[in-house]
Amino acid sequence: SGGGSGLGLSMSKYLVELGANIVILSRNEEKLKKASEKLSEVSDSSIVQYYACDVRDGENIESIVTNVFDDFKALDGIINNAAGNFISPTEKLSHNAFSSVIDIVLKGTCNLTLSFGKKCIEKKQKGKILNIITTYALTGSGYVVPSAAAKGGVLSLTKSIAAEWSKHKIYCNAIAPGPFPTEGAWTRLFPKIFSTFIDIEKKLPLKRFGNHQELANLAAYLLS
Ligand code: HXC
Ligand code: NAP
Repeated sequence: SGGGSGLGLSMSKYLVELGANIVILSRNEEKLKKASEKLSEVSDSSIVQYYACDVRDGENIESIVTNVFDDFKALDGIINNAAGNFISPTEKLSHNAFSSVIDIVLKGTCNLTLSFGKKCIEKKQKGKILNIITTYALTGSGYVVPSAAAKGGVLSLTKSIAAEWSKHKIYCNAIAPGPFPTEGAWTRLFPKIFSTFIDIEKKLPLKRFGNHQELANLAAYLLS
């Protein structure tokens, strides 16, 4: 999910380079179309498909997963990468603002996970689930409270599903990245004015942001 931009696109690109067929999902159809064309140029032999959808719509996600299983005869793994986030003092959030983020991150991950897991169990097929969380899923973080709460929920979901579905050979892991430059995250979380009073990169233990290929390598390993 969210495979048409940012880290999702970088992971998709590397999986295609490694020979995978891939299906990317997100809301913006134009963005998905452009990303699919770019991904198709990476390899002649890989099939790249896209579906414009909202991960919050569980019924639609279920029918997309069914289509993918039918089209490809199998679906080996999913990456729950779609997310919504923005910085805001928590007391300024409306109820809808809070639930928008929770619904995309936590409910969206539940929707895709459940649809995929049900099919794998029904077809007696093994599967890999990879959830993209973030470091503050473990520590909490002010000013991104809906995201922190939702990512914490996804961490618990990851451990719980791993415990319950390993008997079906469905393996569930999460990656908790620190900051990696992407347009989606940077425009919403690190507005330009920040750089006038804080050098975020210098605050990091390695004094540098993540490189997209580093994440793609780990994602490919966990899906392999
Ligand atoms: C306060 C805000 C807000 C903001 C939106 N809202 N932006 N409130 N501050 N900056 C409120 C709106 O007023 C509305 O409430 C409610 O949130 C829903 O907004 P919509 O725009 O109608 O929702 P929707 O179109 O569903 O968009 C969802 C979104 C948007 C989350 C608000 O930002 C989005 O589409 N994001 C997708 C991509 C994304 O966020 N990428 C960054 C991931 S980075 P009312 O009450 O007015 O109706 C990431 C990094 C983690 O996760 C770690 C980094 C280190
Ligand atoms: P991004 O490009 O904004 O990625 C978010 C993706 O999710 C977009 O492709 C977006 O596409 C999709 N999406 C959002 N809401 C959706 C919905 N309701 N239904 C379907 N798709 C939806 O930002 P990113 O930085 O690459 O983030 C990717 C993941 O990495 C997220 O889980 C994020 O929390 C995590 N992460 C990022 C960082 C970082 O520093 N960049 C650090 C830690 C964790 P549409 O707009 O087309 O729907």
